[in-house]
Amino acid sequence: MSEIANHAGEWISICALNDIPVLGSRRVRREQGLDVAVFRNSQNEVFALLDRCPHKGGPLSQGIVFGTQVACPLHNWTIGLCDGQASAPDEGCTPKFSVLLDGGTVYLKAAELQTHATDLLRPVAGPARRNAAA
Ligand code: FES
Repeated sequence: MSEIANHAGEWISICALNDIPVLGSRRVRREQGLDVAVFRNSQNEVFALLDRCPHKGGPLSQGIVFGTQVACPLHNWTIGLCDGQASAPDEGCTPKFSVLLDGGTVYLKAAELQTHATDLLRPVAGPARRNAAA
């Protein structure tokens, strides 16, 4: 029996594997918090991370996937798709999400979509602000 059949309701169907471009990603909107980026590599493995680079919040969903990593489109940090860790010498981690591929369908955990890393925001871009008190 599949993982899905054993845990009906815990996992929710997101899309078909073929809805995610090879070496690309698909963003999943949430009621609260930033999107989740679901990645597909050349081996048809799937991974899910918060769509936020640990450096300055770049959209990892727009990065380039290679192997089990994604290169951030902003400053080219390399982030591990399995664990969200930045490759040394860079430091930082983006939250990862549980993801399951079953019968050609991609699933994410409902509870994680609702509550995981909902407090993380994208940094505001633009010039540094002046301190109003200065
Ligand atoms: S924001 Fe991703 S490398 Fe800078």
